[in-house]
Amino acid sequence: MTILALIVLSFSAPLAQGKSKFLGNIVGSSVPSNYNNYWNQVTPENGGKWGSVQSSQGSFNWRDAEVAANWAKSNGGIFKYHCLVWGSQEPGWIGGLSNDAKKAAVLAWINAVAAHFTNIQYIDVVNEALHAPASYREALGGSGSTGWDWIVWSFTEAKRAFPGAKLLINEYGIINDSNEARQYIEIINILKNKGLIDGIGIQCHQFNVNSLSAASAKSVLDQLAATGIPIFSSEFDANGNSEADQAAIYQRIFPPIWEHASVKGVTLWGYITGTTWKDGTGIVESDGRERQAMTWLKQYIASH
Ligand SMILES: *[C@@H]1O[C@H](CO)[C@@H](O)[C@H](O)[C@H]1NC(C)=O
Repeated sequence: MTILALIVLSFSAPLAQGKSKFLGNIVGSSVPSNYNNYWNQVTPENGGKWGSVQSSQGSFNWRDAEVAANWAKSNGGIFKYHCLVWGSQEPGWIGGLSNDAKKAAVLAWINAVAAHFTNIQYIDVVNEALHAPASYREALGGSGSTGWDWIVWSFTEAKRAFPGAKLLINEYGIINDSNEARQYIEIINILKNKGLIDGIGIQCHQFNVNSLSAASAKSVLDQLAATGIPIFSSEFDANGNSEADQAAIYQRIFPPIWEHASVKGVTLWGYITGTTWKDGTGIVESDGRERQAMTWLKQYIASH
């Protein structure tokens, strides 16, 4: 490699720089050295989850979430926080509390996130309401008169605590399933009618996109877009039996998402082989070599 090529590479800009939608990724305990070559948005992978931050009730560990927040501050990137209310990776101590104490603890958690971070632009308020609802949802109002009062409560408190942030709901199993999408839209419309929601998060993990058709993806996106609420593909990843297989999934599923007028941002859930939660979803090898999916993604984003 020539010196010139090295210089050009080290100064390469995020793929979506200057575009109307962001293209981001996740970080764990540190930011990969090539992060800025690709991404202009960041989400903490695990570091912002309640069970990670407040594993004991009396103390908060913000270290990994701060890595993401600080990268955004230093690089002019978008900070998207994940997440406030979710039935997985909850703190172990929550189950033993009374309903009043649970509600107070959730409120204290929401307020603590808001007090600690000043640069949250997007936040996943409720995660996986259909598939992993919070164990403590009765304490937040349960189903109530709307059917989803605990979600309404969560968004009402998030709106108070994060007046400057876009409030998102987030879920998996939507992009591949119009029936799931219909149920999701019932919740979204309740929040929309109360002026509480700014974005629809659809995770788009490999188990939902690997064998999905572009037409099915577009059809669900149209279904969600009919709410009038912007859409965010929040946890995209794909894997195949080979590098070429993976690239083919990207080529089939990424364009209907990226080109949909209602989609305002895409976050990939990891990109470096050996560090992703699902094997084979990396699109850059640990030595920096770009896999075919990344080679394709770079030229695709440059021209779209
Ligand atoms: C969509 O993916 C989920 C896994 O998240 C699966 O259980 C479901 O059957 C799929 N739906 C369709 C219509 O393929």
